[in-house]
Amino acid sequence: MTEITDILASMEYGPAPEDRSIVDAWLAKHEAGFGHFIEGTFTKPGKLFDVSNPATGKRIAGVTRGTKDDVDGAVAAARKAQPKWAALSGHERAKFIYALARHVQQHARFLAVLETIDNGKPIRESRDIDVPLVARHLYHHAGWAEILEDEFPGSDAVGVCGQVIPWNFPLLMLAWKIAPALAAGNTVVLKPAEYTPLTALAFAEIAAECGLPKGVLNIVTGDGDTGAAIVGHDDIDKVAFTGSTDVGRVIRRQSAGSGKQLTLELGGKSPFVVFADADLDAAVEGVVDAIWFNQGQVCCAGARILVAEQVHDRFEALLRARMDKLRVGDPLDKCTDVGAIVDPIQLDSITSLVDKGVEQGAKLYQTEAPKGCFYPPTLATEVEPASVLATEEIFGPVVTLTSFRTPADALALANNTRYGLAASVWSENINLALDISAKIKAGIIWINCTNVMDAGAGFGGYRESGFGREGGREGMSAYVSHALPAPKKPETAPATPDAMPQAAGPQAGRDVDRTAKLYYGGKQARPDGGYSYGVEGPKGTVGLAGLGNRKDIRNAVEAAAKATGWGKATGHNRAQVLYYLGENLAARSNEFKERLVSFGASSKDATAEVETAVRRCFWYAAQADKFDGAVHQTKSAFVTLAMKEPLGVMGIACPSAHPLLGFVSTVLPAIAMGNSVVALPSQTHPLAATDLYQVLETSDVPAGVINIVTGVRDELSKTLAQHDEVAGMWYFGTKEGGKMVEAESAGNLKQTWTEDATARDWSGKQGYGQDFLTRATQVKNIWVPYGE
Ligand code: NAI
Repeated sequence: MTEITDILASMEYGPAPEDRSIVDAWLAKHEAGFGHFIEGTFTKPGKLFDVSNPATGKRIAGVTRGTKDDVDGAVAAARKAQPKWAALSGHERAKFIYALARHVQQHARFLAVLETIDNGKPIRESRDIDVPLVARHLYHHAGWAEILEDEFPGSDAVGVCGQVIPWNFPLLMLAWKIAPALAAGNTVVLKPAEYTPLTALAFAEIAAECGLPKGVLNIVTGDGDTGAAIVGHDDIDKVAFTGSTDVGRVIRRQSAGSGKQLTLELGGKSPFVVFADADLDAAVEGVVDAIWFNQGQVCCAGARILVAEQVHDRFEALLRARMDKLRVGDPLDKCTDVGAIVDPIQLDSITSLVDKGVEQGAKLYQTEAPKGCFYPPTLATEVEPASVLATEEIFGPVVTLTSFRTPADALALANNTRYGLAASVWSENINLALDISAKIKAGIIWINCTNVMDAGAGFGGYRESGFGREGGREGMSAYVSHALPAPKKPETAPATPDAMPQAAGPQAGRDVDRTAKLYYGGKQARPDGGYSYGVEGPKGTVGLAGLGNRKDIRNAVEAAAKATGWGKATGHNRAQVLYYLGENLAARSNEFKERLVSFGASSKDATAEVETAVRRCFWYAAQADKFDGAVHQTKSAFVTLAMKEPLGVMGIACPSAHPLLGFVSTVLPAIAMGNSVVALPSQTHPLAATDLYQVLETSDVPAGVINIVTGVRDELSKTLAQHDEVAGMWYFGTKEGGKMVEAESAGNLKQTWTEDATARDWSGKQGYGQDFLTRATQVKNIWVPYGE
């Protein structure tokens, strides 16, 4: 018999299996298979696919593969239910969402065990992290329902939301998706991932138990084809997706031009930066949470450790020692740290990426893992920056370790990725930690902590990690609509102008060459192709504008990308420049007015347009140091700073109807927030914008902050939309042009805003406002712990 002294000597844990009987009873009840949850009831099971427990490989349930007809039925139910649900008071909706939260808490243990059996994650995590966060998310959003009218005045629900979620946090992702949707009066068709549909189905039962009105929440199970049928459905108003970047790109292309709102929460390859003065023991514990939490199958996993050279060896030794203590095995055992990989296919994917990394020179340190669908905690060293292990999302318990010399090195390595979801920064020097946090391009930064999440703070990424936030006010705003009515007379594409060779000397009938040039990097430049086009007024040609091409766009983007100092300038500094711009524009009002009259505007309209343009300069100058972030209410002992950051380089295709006001109303909010812009002014009347060159110069707008390329709007927009350096693209033009911009933006998944150029009254309230500023910024949440 084992003596107590033996146990004390080895400190070996005994097995502590969680009781699974309630889940087994539930599975037995559903032995015949699960149907979908549509219009408040479960459909008869259809063509079933197997769902297995990854830890044992055993089949645990049969779930229906959703067909196009099933999706049609679910969308129709959601459509039917939506007006009634939206018409309930916020308080009524809040009561239902509260009820969901309370029932989740009542069924907490059942849900945790079911999640663990379905997904393979340790019970410690599903019990202490996933399920409590599900309840927290529902409570938080019940609150938003309650106060929606006051907090988002004048907004409507978006309509029917199609939501597709992954398998790594099955129930939590469901809560993240449905809670804000329902709070805002939307109805939902949600598809859980094929590996892990069971907690979503259990949640459907809970929804029925709570009396959630029929059709408000519909759950259709199935695979990628079922997901594609939801995303592509004509009667869906919004698509919200979490999953791989590749599928995110497919969805971006598929939904281009459909008018559906889109949020994408995609992959990551987050850096975990350890400075020499960090508390190394705490940082090692941080790595455990960063990459061995949920077997590393976490989009924000800290998968790249970057450690200061001075402490590299000590840190590696501590880390290896800690790895040796990780307990890999039965997910239902309460002592297990690392559970099973979700599916043999995912295991193969991890294995083949690691094998490739080894071929490319990586060295591995691995601990033990049981046979079956398990992968050992793995530390990869000697990993070159171009290795798959450094660049690809592995989605497994595999972390790389690289050293750096200076903070600048650390930053360069941290940002050397196409992703931008999260980062973790470890240092006891708060100045350094905050400085690096501000400079890392990612949506979430954890200082001296990692993987901390709360419903009160937005979660979501920069760059190819997608766009949109989940949680907090940022997340709520993705589920409300301020849509404008469809325009009475939609914009049509202007005729392609005749290209004429740009004369080196005087033009026909003129004494001097009055061809307006392009403007980038603070200088006027002749168009690369050497062509120009005529700008027409009611009395004939009023001037010539340069016909820009792809090369001009590339030059302009390059110039914009160099103007990084602008984004770092204080709001006050930017405000000064914008005030000055307004002043200088006002001083030249007559000149601009005459220009507009030459395009055919009445004197009264031209005067009003210039006056409004001047006021916009002052309005955005005033906002430059006021449109700021927040400190979110999240967990105790954390300050969660929500900082509004510029997107970077933005492309803007300006509306054509108001040649001056359309330019000013779109370009100014972007630069007020610290972006640099490549603007395409009105194709038909670009000269009001090219007249601004001197105003920009005399107003001290730094070189490269505003760049202007005249020419054919849709051709130039295409190049901007495709350009990897462009982080955001606004397009005010035709429906077809908007579709093209959205589809072409899929390459680097830039944020887009496309709208019919005539939809908005540019001269009135719709022509300016905080919505423009919101769209010109992205929120970075920085988590700073305090206390000893
Ligand atoms: P996935 O992106 O294919 O699947 C996520 C969800 O999208 C599932 O519900 C799936 O059925 C659905 N889906 C697949 N194709 C679709 C389409 N064309 N239209 C609409 N929905 C579609 O991810 P998968 O194949 O399960 O995992 C592959 C890799 O993706 C992982 O190894 C990991 O690197 C990454 N991944 C990243 C996640 C994240 O949160 N960042 C989550 C899941 C996977």
